[in-house]
Amino acid sequence: MSKEKLIRNIDALKRAKNAVILAHYYQDPDIQDVADFVGDSLALAQWASEVSADVIVLCGVHFMGETAKILNPEKRVFVPDLNAGCSLAESCPAGAFEEFINAYPDHIVVSYVNTSAAVKALTDIVVTSSNARQIVEILPKDAKIIFGPDKNLGDYINKQTGRKMLLWEGVCHVHAQFSVDRILDLKRKYPGALLLAHPECPEYLLVIADHIGSTSALLRFAAKSDCKQFIVATEAGILYRMRKENPDKEFIPAPPEDATCACNECFYMKMNTLEKLYLCLKNETPEILVDERVRVDAIKPIGRMLEISELYGL
Ligand code: 13P
Ligand code: SF4
Repeated sequence: MSKEKLIRNIDALKRAKNAVILAHYYQDPDIQDVADFVGDSLALAQWASEVSADVIVLCGVHFMGETAKILNPEKRVFVPDLNAGCSLAESCPAGAFEEFINAYPDHIVVSYVNTSAAVKALTDIVVTSSNARQIVEILPKDAKIIFGPDKNLGDYINKQTGRKMLLWEGVCHVHAQFSVDRILDLKRKYPGALLLAHPECPEYLLVIADHIGSTSALLRFAAKSDCKQFIVATEAGILYRMRKENPDKEFIPAPPEDATCACNECFYMKMNTLEKLYLCLKNETPEILVDERVRVDAIKPIGRMLEISELYGL
């Protein structure tokens, strides 16, 4: 089917089934263009909790679909490809995480949203990269905290807040593999360019970054800045939105260690395609289902995050 026909059919099915399409900034441009909302993990959770449509198609990875289902269980939630996982979420199996936190019963458990529903069910407060620092800062100064699963984000927040959170040793396969040497080469080639980095990147990269933030924070910074060139150290899908919002500026993807691979793309995010989105709307599969006992426990820490974010305008 041609791309134009796929887009027409997606639109028709969306209206016929009273569906809404939510997409993450890392999705392919074609998917971002047909989506009703494109945002970061926090915005996707906020939108999902408020959706009145009968069906949510979450074009992102599995944990994003689960979060939408947990928040809005009356709705049917689909993800175009159920195999669209997340290396971070997978680095933190619920059983092993439970053992870890059980060893520190006096600790508050703060989990990044990039986790399974089962891990969220073991958590006190969920955070995203848009609100993690602020939420940790709100916790009592003497609170003992476990943070999982992203050790780079946890380490970054520890440095920002002066806390000494215990960290789970997980990383994202995209953010862990940028090449500092190749980025420094780019900085020499574009001496005026600013380096933008997601806090999932390792410290050795964050220390040379000009601005660190979630996907939405990096977008805001790029739009406000007077600078005309940026090297972007996060998943390359975001460049589409950056270029669209700032046609007068140049965005250069930060290169991975391995010059022969497209490792600055998240292969999980890229599993969703326009065709799979069409088939998912048409056939109403694959559907995200969450065990009700897990959901009831997992909604509490997500709800806390949403309440705090609303209170502080995050
Ligand atoms: P954001 O919350 O910044 O959108 O990040 C999501 C993600 O998966 C980063 O790799
Ligand atoms: Fe997960 Fe990394 Fe992909 Fe984000 S970019 S969804 S953290 S694997």
